[in-house]
Amino acid sequence: MECLYLLLVVFHFTAGCSLSGEIVVRGHTGGSVVLPCSCTDLQTKPQRVTWQVYRGKEWTEVFSADQYRDRLQQFNDDSPANLSLLISDLREEDDGDYRCQTEKESRFFRLFIKGCDLMKSGETEEVTRFSGESVVLLCSCTDLQTKPHTVKWKFRSAKSGIYNIEEIYSTQTGQHRDKVRLTNKYSGNLSLLISDLTEEDQGDYSCSVQGDHKDVRLHVKVRETPTRLWTTDPTTPSEDHPSTAVTESERIMMCVAH
Ligand SMILES: *[C@@H]1O[C@H](CO)[C@@H](O)[C@H](O)[C@H]1NC(C)=O
Ligand SMILES: *[C@@H]1O[C@H](CO)[C@@H](O)[C@H](O)[C@H]1NC(C)=O
Repeated sequence: MECLYLLLVVFHFTAGCSLSGEIVVRGHTGGSVVLPCSCTDLQTKPQRVTWQVYRGKEWTEVFSADQYRDRLQQFNDDSPANLSLLISDLREEDDGDYRCQTEKESRFFRLFIKGCDLMKSGETEEVTRFSGESVVLLCSCTDLQTKPHTVKWKFRSAKSGIYNIEEIYSTQTGQHRDKVRLTNKYSGNLSLLISDLTEEDQGDYSCSVQGDHKDVRLHVKVRETPTRLWTTDPTTPSEDHPSTAVTESERIMMCVAH
């Protein structure tokens, strides 16, 4: 009886985990997906499981690839027969073929990643503001769920040459340091807020994500300082009207003397 039991256990561990089928999984940049893989018999436990991705004509281990660092999770600590893989913070380059492999078989997956397509891609918008004001330069993915892994805002000053382009987001340099931020950091809305505008901020801005860009030309007008006050009465009030310069204590003194 004991022997039979032992045999059954051995059978479970070696033959029990069978995988099957090709599966299509869809995700979007910034989101997460589970590639579902488990032993048909949930009581079993495979000896060895590897997850691989097809890259550059060969299968490579996902857990040793830099691209996936800190973005993978498995569930087989709690349920050993569940070999599923969770990939989070998806990027466009995660798109591809994957396989879940035990010592005996493999299960194949096709992962499609929908990336960010910019609204008004390739267009240039004109915006005018006064100095001292702030401005939101609009840039957004058509699907707000598809937050891209990287977004860059670049700036070319109206004063500098055409080759003088600086990145102002996500690295902030020069005059834009501490003056710019994304209005909505955790979505596909990539609009940039620039505060306290000066003439120096006038120029061309470009919002770019993988293979796509949208431009904004910003005009900054300097507010005319009101000149009337200065031209009508250039002298200081105390010279012209000495009586108005009487202070509260002087008035009290005058009352007392009276
Ligand atoms: C395996 O774990 C994942 C994540 O918790 C879950 O979505 C999936 O349903 C589980 N699969 C099975 C067969 O239990
Ligand atoms: C993105 O955010 C800006 C600033 O909050 C807002 O004005 C704009 O309407 C948003 N765009 C979309 C497509 O939601």
